Amino acid sequence: MTGHGITIVFQVIGLLTALRTTSGKRFTVVSTGSPVPATLGNDSYLCCRLEPEISAENMTIKFHVGDYNICLYKNGKEDLSNQNETYKDRVELLTENITVGQVTLWIKNIQQSDTGNYTCTFVSDDFSSIATMELHVNKRFEVKATEKTVIATNGGAADLGCHLDPENSAELMTIKFHRGDPKSYVYVYNKNPADSGTQNETYKDRTELLTENITRGQVVVRIKNVQLSDTGNYTCIFYSKDHYSKTTVELKVTERFEVKATEKTVIATNGGAADLGCHLDPENSAELMTIKFHRGDPKSYVYVYNKNPADSGTENETYKDRTELLTENITRGQVVVRIKNVQLSDTGNYTCIFYSKDHYSSTTVELKVTAPGGTMITVMIIIAGLLFLGIMFLVIACKTFKKGLVRNRREAVPVQEIPLNSMSTPVNNNSDPGENDALKDN
Ligand SMILES: *[C@@H]1O[C@H](CO)[C@@H](O)[C@H](O)[C@H]1NC(C)=O
Ligand SMILES: *[C@@H]1O[C@H](CO)[C@@H](O)[C@H](O)[C@H]1NC(C)=O
Ligand SMILES: *[C@@H]1O[C@H](CO)[C@@H](O)[C@H](O)[C@H]1NC(C)=O
Ligand SMILES: *[C@@H]1O[C@H](CO)[C@@H](O)[C@H](O)[C@H]1NC(C)=O
Ligand SMILES: *[C@@H]1O[C@H](CO)[C@@H](O)[C@H](O)[C@H]1NC(C)=O
Ligand SMILES: *[C@@H]1O[C@H](CO)[C@@H](O)[C@H](O)[C@H]1NC(C)=O
Ligand SMILES: *[C@@H]1O[C@H](CO)[C@@H](O)[C@H](O)[C@H]1NC(C)=O
Ligand SMILES: *[C@@H]1O[C@H](CO)[C@@H](O)[C@H](O)[C@H]1NC(C)=O
Ligand SMILES: *[C@@H]1O[C@H](CO)[C@@H](O)[C@H](O)[C@H]1NC(C)=O
Ligand SMILES: *[C@@H]1O[C@H](CO)[C@@H](O)[C@H](O)[C@H]1NC(C)=O
Ligand SMILES: *[C@@H]1O[C@H](CO)[C@@H](O)[C@H](O)[C@H]1NC(C)=O
Repeated sequence: MTGHGITIVFQVIGLLTALRTTSGKRFTVVSTGSPVPATLGNDSYLCCRLEPEISAENMTIKFHVGDYNICLYKNGKEDLSNQNETYKDRVELLTENITVGQVTLWIKNIQQSDTGNYTCTFVSDDFSSIATMELHVNKRFEVKATEKTVIATNGGAADLGCHLDPENSAELMTIKFHRGDPKSYVYVYNKNPADSGTQNETYKDRTELLTENITRGQVVVRIKNVQLSDTGNYTCIFYSKDHYSKTTVELKVTERFEVKATEKTVIATNGGAADLGCHLDPENSAELMTIKFHRGDPKSYVYVYNKNPADSGTENETYKDRTELLTENITRGQVVVRIKNVQLSDTGNYTCIFYSKDHYSSTTVELKVTAPGGTMITVMIIIAGLLFLGIMFLVIACKTFKKGLVRNRREAVPVQEIPLNSMSTPVNNNSDPGENDALKDN
């Protein structure tokens, strides 16, 4: 019994000593640096510790954001009764070092809405202190090329575009375009002081960054006066505080081109098909170009390939469902627009235009539509002509023959009239006059 009493007394004394040591003892709460970067979906740790390193096991510790309670440690254990539902099952207080005044709030599966200023409050019996830290949730992103391949013309400009997916402001990010060695970059936006590279001399005074849409995570590096040697793969990298992503854009620089008609004049037969061909000179892929065939008004086109959104024209009704583009040789810059069931009214001059990003060229192809079986008509005309000539010949021949006949008649009249008038006297013209005489005489 007495032993127990002594123990209790000692314990009470111990408690009083402890109280005396903490009570009146001032402390400061120190947090791990701010802002604390966090990545969506990942975990984050907010650490608070006391200075000096005194035990906090008998203190009340509270983590909160504004008025929202995240975690309360009281009477030696976690009290979740007043926890904001947003943090339900997502937070844990790590107290293994609480005896040296250190606790860590473990937030799991970070949400975008977790961004905020977090406060930890330590309350002892007669003293309290707080620390605040900002949790900054970076969106996880991927960088995508606005166009995987960009084709530019020698001497023109090339626009290499990259953007964030999902859409998100890149204003505060570092954005770098390079080709090969990242230390010798083509362009850097918001250059990070740690980035010790310099701009490649080749691109000096030839580049600018179009940042018009940067708040939507989209930038375009424009390379002016592009050279054939600028052809290559460019890398664009977006760096946020704790994350980066990159992609490549291929630039192809081509010679200036001219468009030529494969045949200046195409002859087709009414009801048949007409193939109007155009090609690039020099030979060069036209896959990414806009190619338009029109006749008269370009806004009312016959055919458009890779229609440019800026092109407000529509297909001319006359050609609807009658055209197709043969693109078999498009990588060699050659296309053929086939107009089916051609009409005589399709006869005319057609313009084909090839547009690259910064250059265009056009030419015309003349289509002549002839009536069906045009050759038959020619043959018939020839036959008709021959017939006419034949008839004329016959008429003339007849007339000549008639003249001859009349002449013959005149000579033959007396002889012919004899048998008519005197049937009884069968007279033979050719009969020997001597015989006649002999008969008469008889
Ligand atoms: C999540 O955090 C861990 C540890 O800090 C880190 O190794 C990992 O790369 C992070 N994941 C992402 C997607 O940021
Ligand atoms: C905290 O309180 C418990 C029980 O009241 C006591 O045993 C312990 O010594 C106290 N710790 C400190 C550091 O005061
Ligand atoms: C919990 O916190 C969120 C912000 O994280 C807030 O929008 C919501 O209103 C809070 N809920 C309560 C019950 O306070
Ligand atoms: C506790 O302290 C030890 C030693 O400093 C450290 O390695 C450990 O990470 C700490 N634990 C927590 C949860 O902070
Ligand atoms: C946190 O507090 C700082 C300083 O008061 C302020 O600039 C910042 O906008 C706050 N952050 C958030 C997410 O509220
Ligand atoms: C600059 O860029 C050109 C073309 O990509 C490359 O040939 C050259 O090596 C680069 N210069 C440096 C210093 O990296
Ligand atoms: C910005 O976005 C608008 C709308 O999408 C677009 O028309 C414009 O070309 C973009 N500007 C740049 C420089 O990318
Ligand atoms: C660019 O990269 C692609 C894919 O890796 C490759 O096929 C192509 O040849 C490269 N282009 C140049 C000019 O290096
Ligand atoms: C469509 O093409 C025909 C033949 O070239 C032309 O007469 C007509 O005006 C065109 N229609 C429009 C809306 O331009
Ligand atoms: C494509 O080129 C080949 C070889 O020159 C040629 O025979 C063929 O007719 C062309 N096709 C078209 C649709 O122009
Ligand atoms: C097509 O253009 C040529 C040259 O300009 C011209 O001689 C010809 O008459 C035109 N053809 C038609 C059907 O308009």
